[in-house]
Amino acid sequence: MAHYDFDKIINRNQTDSVKYDLRNWYFKSDDLLPMWVADMDFETPDFIREAVATRARHPIYGYSFRSQSYADSIREWVERRHQWTIQNDWCVFSPGIVPAFNFAILTLTKPGDGVLIQPPVYFPFFSSVTDHHRKLLQNQLVYNQGIYEIDFDDFEKKASQASMFLLSNPHNPVGRIWNEAELRRMADICRKHGVIIVSDEIHNDLILPGSKHVVMAGLSPEIADITLTCIAPSKTFNMAGLATSSVIISNVELREKYAGFINALHLSGGNLFGAVASEAGYRRGDRWVDELMQYVQQNIYLLKNQLEELTDIRVVDSQATYMVWLDFLKTGLDDEAIKMKLIHEAKVGLSHGPTFGPGGERFQRINLAAPRKLVEEAVSRMSATFKCR
Ligand SMILES: Cc1ncc(COP(=O)(O)O)c(C=O)c1O
Repeated sequence: MAHYDFDKIINRNQTDSVKYDLRNWYFKSDDLLPMWVADMDFETPDFIREAVATRARHPIYGYSFRSQSYADSIREWVERRHQWTIQNDWCVFSPGIVPAFNFAILTLTKPGDGVLIQPPVYFPFFSSVTDHHRKLLQNQLVYNQGIYEIDFDDFEKKASQASMFLLSNPHNPVGRIWNEAELRRMADICRKHGVIIVSDEIHNDLILPGSKHVVMAGLSPEIADITLTCIAPSKTFNMAGLATSSVIISNVELREKYAGFINALHLSGGNLFGAVASEAGYRRGDRWVDELMQYVQQNIYLLKNQLEELTDIRVVDSQATYMVWLDFLKTGLDDEAIKMKLIHEAKVGLSHGPTFGPGGERFQRINLAAPRKLVEEAVSRMSATFKCR
């Protein structure tokens, strides 16, 4: 029997929530159902809120450090959840994962170097390369009969010109967990061409029932040696506002370069409450995450059944994350028409496909980490707007 209540609707208006309180700025409308920004409309788990409240009751919030117990909780979590064995001193703090891959680009590549990404992909992947005047190399994913695959010939061609590969695993927005064979093949090509891998695994815990996440750096010590792995409790436990993440680096030379930069900027202090929340989540969150992903799976079924029955929208099958990638190709509508209909007729706020780069045209991403009632409402509005049967 389920222990946690994911049906509860929480009013997030006027909490300075990007998803709710910036609707008007982004969509020019504030009465739509927001299903865009990747955080959840579920309560951050009670054991995390209690840990933060307990610490908050101490009257001084001065300089603090992250204890060995904090690092132990990360190490034990990845061992338990992902069968990945790491050491405490491989964990380097980062306030977030987008900062983490920007720091990696700044510290481990030079202006003009090539950085490889796989669009359609989370939009900061593009700016992290171009903002620092590195060369953007794109290995576009292949959409083949509803399934996303990698064009390995193109991957090798681009990797041969790259210094770094920014991997999204599980992939946002297409929802794929790259399997062991695919990961090994990408890693072998990177090793052959001297390419450092930054594996963004921020969604590693958000795995749908029946699937299993594969850690790139867990495949072999040789692969770990060229890989920086980005993980965080932020998506897992809905605590992105606490700005606490980790980059796991086993290679001493890479770690010293990377950590040296973070220390030089005096960023390693981090956020006192983030550390407390992270440790509570990693120590006590197994059951919560398992129930969360069962609930999300039911939301996905609901969406898929209705949209595919009543409209020409296709729901791309996913293995991970609470975001779902929607294919509007058969509707015959162009991107502007899709966007306008969603905002002004359906009144739902989704993430616009083209912002994810090439391959995002005529797709939208919907966030299903919301109580069932909200998902039902969004799906029924979208079905009515795009109804064709
Ligand atoms: C693949 C991926 N990386 C990073 C982030 C954000 O990371 P952070 O908020 O820790 O900077 C997201 C958020 O949606 C994401 O999907």
